[in-house]
Parts: sequence; C-alpha cells; structure tokens
Amino acid sequence: MVSKVPTRGKLLYGGDYNPEQWLDRPDILAEDIRLMKEAHVNVVSMGIFSWASLEPSDGNYDFSWLKERIDSLYENGIYTILATPTGSRPAWLAKRYPEVLRVNDMGQKLLFGDRHNHCMTSPAYRKKTYEIDRRLSEAFGKHPGVIAWHINNEMGGECYCPLCREAFRNWLKDRYGCISNLNRAWNAAFWSHTFTSFEEIDPPMQIGETQLHGLKLDWKRFITERHKDFTEAEIRAVRDGGSDLPITMNLMYDYKGLDYQDFTDICDFMSWDNYPVWGKHGAEGNYDIAIDTAFDHDRVRSLQRKPYLMMESCPSATNWQSVSKLKEPGLLMAQELQAIAHGADGGLYFQMRQSRGASEKFHGALIDHYGKDDTRVFREAAETGRALECLSPVIGSEVKSRAAVIYDMQNRWAMEDAQGPRNAGLYYREACRKSYRAFREFGLNADLIDETQSLDGYRIVAAPMVYMFREGFADKLQAFVEKGGCLILTYWSGIVDDTDLCFLDGTPHDLVDVCGFRSTEIDGLYDEEWNEAVLRRPDLPECGELKEKTYRSRNLCEILELHGAEALLTYKKYFYRDTPAVTRNFYGKGRVYGIATDFDYDFYRDFYRGILKDLGKEPILKEIPSGLEVTEREGDDGRVYIFLISWKPEKVEVQLPEGAKVVYQNERVDVRKPDHSDKAGSSGRAIFSDYGCLVISL
Ligand code: GLA
Ligand code: ZN
Repeated sequence: MVSKVPTRGKLLYGGDYNPEQWLDRPDILAEDIRLMKEAHVNVVSMGIFSWASLEPSDGNYDFSWLKERIDSLYENGIYTILATPTGSRPAWLAKRYPEVLRVNDMGQKLLFGDRHNHCMTSPAYRKKTYEIDRRLSEAFGKHPGVIAWHINNEMGGECYCPLCREAFRNWLKDRYGCISNLNRAWNAAFWSHTFTSFEEIDPPMQIGETQLHGLKLDWKRFITERHKDFTEAEIRAVRDGGSDLPITMNLMYDYKGLDYQDFTDICDFMSWDNYPVWGKHGAEGNYDIAIDTAFDHDRVRSLQRKPYLMMESCPSATNWQSVSKLKEPGLLMAQELQAIAHGADGGLYFQMRQSRGASEKFHGALIDHYGKDDTRVFREAAETGRALECLSPVIGSEVKSRAAVIYDMQNRWAMEDAQGPRNAGLYYREACRKSYRAFREFGLNADLIDETQSLDGYRIVAAPMVYMFREGFADKLQAFVEKGGCLILTYWSGIVDDTDLCFLDGTPHDLVDVCGFRSTEIDGLYDEEWNEAVLRRPDLPECGELKEKTYRSRNLCEILELHGAEALLTYKKYFYRDTPAVTRNFYGKGRVYGIATDFDYDFYRDFYRGILKDLGKEPILKEIPSGLEVTEREGDDGRVYIFLISWKPEKVEVQLPEGAKVVYQNERVDVRKPDHSDKAGSSGRAIFSDYGCLVISL
C-alpha cells in the first residue's frame, strides 16, 4: 500500500474536536478557530461519536452543522480528518433495534450506555452504519477541507450474542472443514471435550468453557476477524459514497484484544492513541516511560513499515488514569517530538476543547474551561505547534531499521493463556522491551515485527519468548541465519504450533541444529527468588562488554543440553548450576545466541553492545549518555535526520557528528561550536536539560 499520511506539506497538528457540544454558542465556535490558529493547529478530527447529532432520529439525517464547521475550519487553513460516528450509537437506535446491544461473557444482554458497545455482527447495526457512512462520504468525501477517514474509534471488545456465536461456528467450519479436524487441533479428547458437530460449540465464557486453550485462541482470532470484517464494511460504505481519501483506524497502547497486524492491508496508513503514565516515577523517572512509549511508536510504525500518525495524546493530564498527573514544563513538546522521531508524520491531541459535562469534563485539552490562551498548557502547545512547522522537511522520511524484535500478538495470546511454567507472570512485553531497549541504547533503530512479517533487510533479530511457532516461522528463522543473519532466541521458544498443540520432537521446534541446543526443562521461580549467571568466556569479543562477574535473572530458567553450541555464561544456583545460561552457535553464514533465562536489563545492555560491536555496527553517535533518546529518519534523498530527546532531570552532553546541521532545537538545548576540548571530526557539542529536543540533519 503506497498511500501516505495526508500531510498537505505540514506535519499534522491538532486533534479531536467535538463542536456538536457547542452549537448554541457561536461565540465559542468562532473562538475555537481563533485559538487553534494561534496554536498552529492545521487539522482536527471530527465526527467521532457524533451519530446522535448527525441522525437525530431514524432515517432523518442532519449534516448541516458539520458542513458549517468543516467549511469554516477550511477557510481558516484547518483540515478535517472525518470519522465515521460508529464508535457510539444513539439511544433511539438501541431501543429500536435491540439486537445491536452486546451480550457479555456471563450471557447478559447489556443496556444502552457508554460507548464501543455494539455487536459487530448485528445486521441492523451494519445496515445503519452503512447508511450513515455512505451518506457522510457523499456529503464530504470530495470536500477540499477533508483529508482522510478515521474509521470508528479505538475498536475493541467482544460480544457473545446468538448472532456472534453463530458467526463463530461458521468461521470454525471454514477454518477446519470438518469437526474431526477441529477436535484434533484442540486436542479435545482431553476431559471428554470431543465435539460431534459445530453446533455444539460455544465461545469461551465465564459461565462455560474457560480451559480449552485451542478454543480460546481461535475465539480471539475470530474477534479480530469480526472487527476486520466490520471495518471493511465501513470502508466499503465510504468508497460507495464516492470518496477515495486515505483511510486509517486508531489503535491503542498495548491492546491485547485484537491482532492489529491483520488490519494493515485495509488501512492506507496506521495511527494510534498515546497516553503514557508520565510522572509515575520508577527508578529511572520518565526515561523508563519514554522507552515504553517508544516501543509502541515503533510497533505501530512497523505494522506497515512506513510513516504513521499519532492520532491522540493528551496536552495536559488525562482523567482516567489512577492519578491525573500534570505534565512538567517541556514534557508536552518532548512527547510530540518523540512521535515524529519514531516516524509519525503528525502528532494530534484528544482534545481541542474540554467538555462542560459528562465523563471527560476534566480530561486535558488545548482549550480548557477558562477558555483563553494565557494558560501554561496553551502556551506550550503553541510552542510545540511552531516546532512542528520547523520540522516539515522530515515529512515522508522513513525510519530504516537493521535490527528487529519479534513481538507477536497471537503468540502472546497463546502463551499467556497456557497454564505453563509460571502462572504468576511471564513478562512477555517486558522481555521484548529489554531487547528493544538494548538496540535503542546502542543508537540503532529497531522495528517490532510479528512472525508473519519478512526478515529481509535485517542484520540482527531478537526473538524473545516465541512460545508459538506459527506456520513457516522456524523455516524463516533458519533461512535468516543461514544467509548470515544474527539471531537471538530466548527461553520458552518453539514450544507449540498454531493451534497451541505441543511439538513432540524437541524444542525449540525444528531449530535444535540451528541453535545448537535442545531445551530439556524449564524452572519457574517465585517472585522473591533469583538466579545468577557467571561469565565463562571473557575472551570472546561478544562478551567484551560484560562488565559484571555475574548477572541476575528471574522468573524462568530453562535448562539446555548442548548440541554444538558453546556456553558463554552458566547458571550459578540451584541443581542446574554450571549448566548453560547463554550460548553461541554458528550456522550457515550466521549465528545464534541463546538466552535461557529472564535476565535483568543490565545483562541485555552489556551483551547486545558486545554483539553489535562484534558485528561491526557503528551507531551514528558514538557515545549516547543515559537518558538521551536517539532516533533517525532517512529521506528519499538520503538525508538523515537525527532526533535527540533528553528524558532525564540531570544535564547531559553529547558530541555532534561531523557535518551536522541544526534543523530544530528548543530552548532546553545549548548547542556549542567546536572548540579545542572537542573530539576531532565533531561539529560541536549539545548540552541538554530535561526535555531538551534537538533535531539535526546530515
Ligand atoms: C481514547 C478515546 C478518546 C478519549 C481519550 C481520553 O483515546 O479515543 O475518545 O476518550 O481516550 O484519553
Ligand atoms: Zn453479537
């Protein structure tokens, strides 16, 4: 798919706007536009949840207020991303067509209320959706002020109504063909769960089946299929209405309810909503949260491996996290520039103007209840808007990564449901984040891809806890290593197939030769336990950065039997002390490192640094001080943009590479010309205070 974020020459800046709350206040609507312009806003996202104002009663449509808003905004240089309003429905619709109401996993039919609560299968809901979407497209699809479609909003959730159950059975029939295939795939003979027909199957529910892993995994896949099918129906309506504008849907942070990879072929560009818990200071303050946020930016970018959009973020405090923390001065700009650094072609907010009532009245907004521009948040948002204008040269440039981490939702579903070596927590996301962070801190861009994506172009791939080897994945890893790739495979990998049936021929499945070891057992540790690993081969180059004598690990310790690999570190504790905890094996033109236990991050940092140096990788900045995030985007013309953002309260200093030109710097960075104290070849130094942002080009 070639379509891009529709930037119209500027990085998109603005956000959700729901003027239907203010139609009786033309003074406020006019003031909104004035203030948005002052804040350098160039786009709003409208129509989200506006159904009741667009179709006040069944079949009676009124788009006049929306047209007026789109027109006035456009006349003032502000574009509209138009949403389909289907994320929440009018009360009349629920009363008139009760089948649109969801049924929960206790079998109870829900009443009208909240949002995101419609049945994805209901023909009545689909019919009403089709009608309003098509009409919106007819009315606005060719309006010069409308630049994209935003389908629904943060889709998710499940419905267990009779219509959905029926659709599930049909989906299973398509997948398995006959019931004996299904019984085999789910190992249904256990506990007498053998089915004699598809009609006997119900979804996993609290009041019914909770333990049949194959069924639960397939139900999750079916939920993704339902949402995709619904989204495709919405897209069809928009296309039938005559619009060919690009289409996106807004994804959520760490959302486990859908396999987002399945939506990449129907969206023209991806977008997501970013609400980090800034200020929830762990040991490393906001730096830790910045890494976690970067992980999701890179995950969303990697879905299509091209520029995306940050559809929402909060300009101030949210009102739904456990504590509504204000953003420290400077953090707002750092949050926005972080998105651009990771490949977004715009950073938007929820919301432009704060509501007066109902559930989000205290959620942060560009314009708060006081309604003027002399607020701290407004000033910082305007400053950020100015910064984004300076950064328009980066539009369309890509984040090119030579490193990837495998992060796979279907693997996660299967593993977390599996009742295996540690039901008190497996820490899958955390394991992926450790590899990711080690790449990032070395100054390498990293993609986060799933098992279905290609490994072409990567030099090094980390595959943490790939419990489920989906069809073809073992072959893909083998080919990658054979051709010269460097693979890092961790504990609890290659255990089951696509339907969660255990492999019988030794694990990691089909890769024992490639890895040079077989995993024989895995030990779960209690929260208060830890193991340690001792460095055995300090002489090897990849161990050259391992500074500690021992490294701690927790949660899981796999016991390995070597088949050609050598042990680089061995366990120090328990009955498997002195057996391998980290291994190296050469295979084809490449190599595989095995990590058998859940090490603390410091091991990953030191070990990956050694491996990357040994592979001859040269980060673009030789020394990256802790707390400074470095990312690169590369334009078609070969120009490289380096984004540096400081997330630590202490001042940090960095040598700038030769030939660096400043594209943008905020007032929290001091750039100094080279003097005698600088290294040869440097184009000077930059000194960062907290939330300092600097963008240079080479
Ligand atoms: C989500 C929704 C928005 C709003 C924000 C509040 O991202 O999409 O409608 O509720 O959360 O943070
Ligand atoms: Zn349903």
